[in-house]
Amino acid sequence: MPDAGLDAPAQHAGMSTTESSESFQISREIAEFYETAFVPAFFAQWAPILCQAAGVAPGHRVLDVACGTGIVTRTAADRVAPGGRTVGVDLNDAMLSVARRVRPDIEFRQADAARLPFADESFDTVLSQMALMFFPDRVVAVQEMARVTSPGGTVALLVPGAHEHQLAFARFADLAVRHAGDEARSLLSTYFLCGDLDQLASLVESTGLQVTTARTEVGTYRAPSVDAFVTTEVESTPLVQRISSDVYARIRTGAHHVLAGFTTADGRVEAPFESNLVVARRV
Ligand SMILES: C[S@@+](CC[C@H](N)C(=O)[O-])C[C@H]1O[C@@H](n2cnc3c(N)ncnc32)[C@H](O)[C@@H]1O
Repeated sequence: MPDAGLDAPAQHAGMSTTESSESFQISREIAEFYETAFVPAFFAQWAPILCQAAGVAPGHRVLDVACGTGIVTRTAADRVAPGGRTVGVDLNDAMLSVARRVRPDIEFRQADAARLPFADESFDTVLSQMALMFFPDRVVAVQEMARVTSPGGTVALLVPGAHEHQLAFARFADLAVRHAGDEARSLLSTYFLCGDLDQLASLVESTGLQVTTARTEVGTYRAPSVDAFVTTEVESTPLVQRISSDVYARIRTGAHHVLAGFTTADGRVEAPFESNLVVARRV
């Protein structure tokens, strides 16, 4: 999965390798690469789905938690005008710098999802896209989202669906297991940790929010080549530290086989990708 770095020089961005906050101190170069390569190829497609499902509308006050370079924040900002307010928060300075460069008119602040720097009931809608699985304490993060949402307001989350349903990723994981052993599967699955839709809905309900929508959306994962897909999968996860160069080479060769069904005539990878969407109301 594209975390924040997919290809050289943006390898091993560290977003999916560990659940600790330190892993998010990525460089400006990687954040720029995330914005120019991954946002258009993958992240941008989900932002309108999330904003639409959350009912973001003119005049609303919207918070985007773990905003990255701000694709959801700016999608929401365009929908709340005129008269609304949109704020994006993220742990990572580099992501925030790029977010501010792209949209200097939007407020971006550094903050941990576990300690949102806002008063209770400050927002009508709180959004978070492709990030909950990285938070060390997901319940606390959703509690924080609920706290800053006004009564009657909305919290909406979008995360990758189950690993086994992502055909290209599941086949690649099977290949990695064949060459690197069982451990490879869990090393490759961090991005999909919130993939069980029922569990995600239960987590949200456990914070006192009332789930109104829990569904799976299907989009497309795109990589410029099979090699780029492999680089992302191996080098943005701890797998890269556990395998020899021989094993890595065998996985790279095998990937051309297992991903053949998802490879276009000009060599790009395009695979269906499931995301889980949960929308909840603050009562
Ligand atoms: C895969 S990116 C998704 C970014 C953005 N939501 C998007 O859709 O492009 C995950 C983001 O989560 C942020 N993040 C991870 N843990 C966080 C935390 N505890 N609090 C705030 N942001 C966090 C990272 O810095 C990174 O920008």
